[in-house]
Amino acid sequence: MEKIVLNNNTEIPAAGIGTFLMQPDDAQNAVVSALKNGYTMIDTANAYMNEKAVGRGVTESGKTREEVYISTKLWPSEYSNAEEAIEETLNRLDTDYIDLLFLHQPVGDYITAYKAMENAVKSGKVKSLGLSNFSVEEVNEVIEATEIRPAVLQVEAHPYYPQNELKEQFPDIHLMAWYPLGHGDRNLVNEPIFTELAEKYGKSNAQIILRWHTQSGNIVIPGSKNPEHIKDNIDIFDFTLTDDELAKIAEVNKNTRYYTATKEALEGYLKFAPDFNAQK
Ligand SMILES: NC(=O)c1ccc[n+]([C@@H]2O[C@H](COP(=O)([O-])OP(=O)(O)OC[C@H]3O[C@@H](n4cnc5c(N)ncnc54)[C@H](OP(=O)(O)O)[C@@H]3O)[C@@H](O)[C@H]2O)c1
Repeated sequence: MEKIVLNNNTEIPAAGIGTFLMQPDDAQNAVVSALKNGYTMIDTANAYMNEKAVGRGVTESGKTREEVYISTKLWPSEYSNAEEAIEETLNRLDTDYIDLLFLHQPVGDYITAYKAMENAVKSGKVKSLGLSNFSVEEVNEVIEATEIRPAVLQVEAHPYYPQNELKEQFPDIHLMAWYPLGHGDRNLVNEPIFTELAEKYGKSNAQIILRWHTQSGNIVIPGSKNPEHIKDNIDIFDFTLTDDELAKIAEVNKNTRYYTATKEALEGYLKFAPDFNAQK
């Protein structure tokens, strides 16, 4: 597994599995399948309502806590009470530290929450901090108001929306790509350039896209419940796309996202306050 050194000198795997929209049993199975097939990183969030299942999956896999890198996220409804929310996330994951903790959305009192996350770093409960779905301006606002520089930005990124501007603005902060496969969009996955390169390298189109990400410096967390896809999505480090091939893939860029959060949607996120402990 390739690893990346973050700006706080900690290491993160270049690829892991995502668990968005997975029911607890599916998330547990996916985590076990991933960890038994060479993965060392899992991405979850308190809003996914599957942190307990992720914790059970890690235990069931037989891996030690140190062998697994866990990233999770605080939902805006928890921002004003972030210290307690971090404790609850630790309990749900059944661990005493989180490798990487994100603020999930740029709404509400995110500066106060980030400061609580900084305290958790100082007390050893969290190793690295990240921001998810924050714009360039919002990342700068957090950097100016706080002490610990974010180590990772988790944002929508794929060949149709490669996030070139964000990467240029923060060259020392690694990008973790959500929707790395466009959420499975067939138009993206079946772009002719990926089919051509898949034939050349004896890989699937999805593997070509994931390799493009890692060669572009992105960390990937493709989501899958399918054991074959789970295996394939980590089997991407035994070939290297050439510079010409990377340039051809860059031409696929449409500068279009699948998801844009409106102001109204963000306000809705702030009001959405589930009972996170009620999950299975
Ligand atoms: N921070 C945020 O706001 C945010 C938002 C969205 C997602 N995320 C994170 O990013 C992760 C990835 O996003 P995502 O899971 O929504 O989208 P994704 O990884 O781009 O795509 C997942 C879809 O692609 C399919 N797929 C996976 N591997 C495949 C393969 N090898 N060949 C063909 N199809 C394949 C999956 O179906 P199968 O199950 O059939 O394989 C699933 O339908 C999430 O799980 C979550 O951890 C974060």
